Amino acid sequence: MVDTSFTHIAHSTQTIQQRYLHVITWGCQMNVYDSNRMVDLLRPLGYKVTDEAEKADVLILNTCHIRDKATEKVFSELGRLRQIKEYREDQGNPTLIAVAGCVAQAEGEIILKRAPYVDIVFGPQTYHRLPKMILDVARKSGNVIETDFPTESKFDFLPAPDESQGYTAFLTIQEGCDKFCSFCVVPYTRGAEESRPVQAIVDEATHLCSLGVKEISLLGQNVNAYHGQGPDGNIWDLVKLAEKLSTIPGLLRIRYTTSHPNDMSDSLIAAHRDLPTLMPFLHLPVQSGSDRILKSMNRGHTVSEYYAIIEKLKKARPDIALSSDFIIGHPGETNEDFKATMKLVQDITFAQAFSFKYSPRPGTSAAVSMNQIAEPEKDARLQELQAVLKDQQTQFNKDTVGRKIPILFTHKGRKEGQIAGKSPYLQAVHAQGNDSLIGQECMVEIDECLTFSLSGSLVKESTSH
Ligand code: SAH
Ligand code: SF4
Ligand code: F3S
Repeated sequence: MVDTSFTHIAHSTQTIQQRYLHVITWGCQMNVYDSNRMVDLLRPLGYKVTDEAEKADVLILNTCHIRDKATEKVFSELGRLRQIKEYREDQGNPTLIAVAGCVAQAEGEIILKRAPYVDIVFGPQTYHRLPKMILDVARKSGNVIETDFPTESKFDFLPAPDESQGYTAFLTIQEGCDKFCSFCVVPYTRGAEESRPVQAIVDEATHLCSLGVKEISLLGQNVNAYHGQGPDGNIWDLVKLAEKLSTIPGLLRIRYTTSHPNDMSDSLIAAHRDLPTLMPFLHLPVQSGSDRILKSMNRGHTVSEYYAIIEKLKKARPDIALSSDFIIGHPGETNEDFKATMKLVQDITFAQAFSFKYSPRPGTSAAVSMNQIAEPEKDARLQELQAVLKDQQTQFNKDTVGRKIPILFTHKGRKEGQIAGKSPYLQAVHAQGNDSLIGQECMVEIDECLTFSLSGSLVKESTSH
């Protein structure tokens, strides 16, 4: 036996000492999923999640590198965590700081150099080694850095979640990206695109549903390009996977994000018509409405191809809610290019969308372009775009007033007697209702469109599950 208290936790089955874990998560849903899995990994070692950083024996900062001053943000947050660590250690409580995620992957060495009080740095593909990393630090063998892209898959080492996740859950089915868009760091931080085998996903989903989950969001950076090994030895696509998942008892809703226009197959479009569990919502980033900019972004499709996909989708599922991502001020974007983006938005109309100012990322091809756009220009264009997107979102929400829609209730509302959840179109909805309906999908008539949510009334006779 080794002599530290950390290893004592790992090896003693009788007296697992309660320890606390505080996880800060930035970035996309894949990071949220990863953070949950880190919690699952550390639970058997006696760690319980706490919202209070000051109480935590282990502090994990799960980072995102996608935009802005990602690295600086990490160092500023680490400054705060350092104070907590020092305070706790003055009181005799050993405290470990771990930096995870995409900044850790990209800037691991720099983090350890600039913030030597950080104990562990690890990337998105190595966190299955976290228990060992913690033990190594506890054995006082110094800082630990794990930012390689290992040959083994982390998924083969992750335990099944053993606590209820609530009624909705994320499930990563594909890692990495091979598309190398000019502006994007993801291929460098997450590595090559890889799909998990079907059976592993089905097992995880079945387990989640046995814990009460009713809605699963399948995650991947190009999730609609999913091509995993099927139990029959063939490669399965997302449609086949979704059909299989739909047979899991208790699973009412399936979503998937993020999709790439180039991988939007006709069979996936048809599944939005034919597969009742597949929600009528699609996040399909287009980034720009100008062919010239799409080309320099290396997106691999044209504006008219995007229109054609949307047309087919609307035909297959007329009520589909569309969402997208836009980048404003990519190098070389002229006012005309921007106007083309505005036209695309006006033509298609989105139920919601995310829009960002282009931010040069280290190591990407767009970052070294000579045609960078001035900040004030980017600001002005972004404001103009966001005003229209906001109006479209409001209009989409207003258009649901008067409709009867199935709502999956997931939690109590803010006011006494209210319950709240999501519509198939991912709108937040609340209604007066008994707490016993939480976890169920019920028909609700939408009465009013408020600023951040819709309010509705339960349609009594038609509670569906
Ligand atoms: N895989 C997804 C996107 C992942 S990143 C896709 O291909 O669509 C999420 C969003 O962040 C992108 O869609 C893009 O709009 C935005 N983004 C990525 N890199 C960016 C950068 N350098 N500057 C500004 N926005 C960026
Ligand atoms: Fe980034 Fe492009 Fe890959 Fe999306 S498809 S993750 S934007 S490189
Ligand atoms: Fe950010 Fe990494 Fe996700 S860079 S958006 S956390 S894949």
